[in-house]
Amino acid sequence: MHQLKALLWCCAVLLCVGEAIGSRAFADESPIYSSMATAQPVWAEHGMVSSQEALASQVGVEILKRGGNAVDAAVAVGFSLAVTLPRAGNLGGGGFMLVYLAKENKSIAIDYREMAPSSAHKDIFIDEAGKVNPKLSLAHGLAVGVPGTVMGMELALKKYGTMKLSQVIQPAIQQAKKGIKVTSSLANSLSHPFIKERMLEVPASKAVFYKQDGANYQPNEWLVQGDLARSLELIAKHGSKGFYEGETAEKIVAAVTAAGGIMTLEDMQNYKAVERQPVSGTYRGYEVISMPPPSSGGVHIIEMLNMLELYPVGELGHNSAANIHLLAEVMKRAYADRSEYLGDPDFVDVPLKALTDKNYAKHLSKQIHADKATPSAQIKPGKLLPYESDQTTHYSVVDKWGNAVSNTYTLNFSYGSGIVAAGTGILLNNEMDDFSAMPGVPNGFGLVGGDANAVQGNKRPLSSMTPTIVMKNGKPFIVTGSPGGSRIITTTLQVISNVIDHGLNIAEATAAPRIHHQWLPDEIRIEKSLNVDTRRLLEAKGHQLSEKSAMGSTQTIMVTDKGLFGASDPRRADSAALGY
Ligand code: GLY
Repeated sequence: MHQLKALLWCCAVLLCVGEAIGSRAFADESPIYSSMATAQPVWAEHGMVSSQEALASQVGVEILKRGGNAVDAAVAVGFSLAVTLPRAGNLGGGGFMLVYLAKENKSIAIDYREMAPSSAHKDIFIDEAGKVNPKLSLAHGLAVGVPGTVMGMELALKKYGTMKLSQVIQPAIQQAKKGIKVTSSLANSLSHPFIKERMLEVPASKAVFYKQDGANYQPNEWLVQGDLARSLELIAKHGSKGFYEGETAEKIVAAVTAAGGIMTLEDMQNYKAVERQPVSGTYRGYEVISMPPPSSGGVHIIEMLNMLELYPVGELGHNSAANIHLLAEVMKRAYADRSEYLGDPDFVDVPLKALTDKNYAKHLSKQIHADKATPSAQIKPGKLLPYESDQTTHYSVVDKWGNAVSNTYTLNFSYGSGIVAAGTGILLNNEMDDFSAMPGVPNGFGLVGGDANAVQGNKRPLSSMTPTIVMKNGKPFIVTGSPGGSRIITTTLQVISNVIDHGLNIAEATAAPRIHHQWLPDEIRIEKSLNVDTRRLLEAKGHQLSEKSAMGSTQTIMVTDKGLFGASDPRRADSAALGY
């Protein structure tokens, strides 16, 4: 019976192959408000910012109101989040910014991912006994990549903004100086035993984030970050030189060295943010623009959408067992490829065209059975994925001219390495853990990665960050992205499919239960709100299910002829889509 059904599905697929198959015909109706909707988006007429911290969204909206464009606002939000969302917003980390310029009808991908110090090498995390020591890539000077955020923000503003750095950085300086009211969520994250233990070990980190006696800040108390304000002021005065040279750079290098690292002043001075050609594809008549390597996000979102396009996804029903089965099968094939082919394009040849080719998707989809999960071991044996944490943050901005910014940046783990460089207030990343510590051999987390992502001096570690813009009729339609480590790509995928295939408005598409499969481990990760009947049907198809914490924190803006509709993920406290 199963085989018969599989055959029928395969026949349907083969019949469909060769053209973009319409799911249900939602393509021409932007789902906005409806009495059927179970969640409603935020509306604004002129401009909107959606971010994980309401204070930062407000900063962005104020810049837009003052006549700034989406890039001006995005840079202001980036600096503000470094103050207001210290677990992920940052000066000491890195990320990716996707910019759409309406006048030029042009998209640009800005890569400000951290780089390995020049003397880093593939055995850097291996101890004298020949074993991977996870502490070295997580909470040690060696864990810190050369930060990219300040250079990335400066590049974006200089080339595509209209305001001065000294202007857009002001709100962040004020927030650091005057202090921010500690929210319940911030207090909670700082009191997490793992975070607290790590930060109390570093006197400069303790001084910023805990009281003198090591006690936690309580909700509604004020967190003042004087050193961070001074570091921001140096950037306001000297631009990126105020970070990569002079006293801030010296203090960062001193902190990294004291913690056993190898970053030098030359590494700081030589850091470069680069512009890359975004990766793009199509999905049921929409254009999908996203981040190219060293992020794996854009490549695999397009690879997965190419596969989904071959199926009548809308007809399967939103979050039905058939829909989730298909999603999981598509995801595991993309993530198997991720482990093999992706790395920093400045160091390895990433077969980008082949992976995003629609014919390749057809080839992969022929192996998908309608009623039976394919065990991951049969898809490609061997290599597991590098570990990634979910403490990244995303924000989206759209201005009144139709320019859009989709930005995801990170310290990697929550509060990064936990190391604040003394005298700067700047938390340093532990992005070096996104490299494969020892290709082909399990690391401290029991995970391994491919050669393409091995550590090398000046190389950027592979990322999953997926800032994305879906275009409709040549204009931005959905501006989105998410944190969530390896779940970033599948989270972003589901937001897009929820709108295009299932006709959900952006608030419903955001709130809907999410699933994730990353090939290995061979399990569908689910959120707890996925209903029990669907779970049973999936298990009957041979899937192993694993209920874990909620996935992602999407920050999305939908652009329509009726205005801007925003949705900030209800999975995280304090986030907000705000507009004017
Ligand atoms: N550190 C998470 C990522 O870059 O994907």
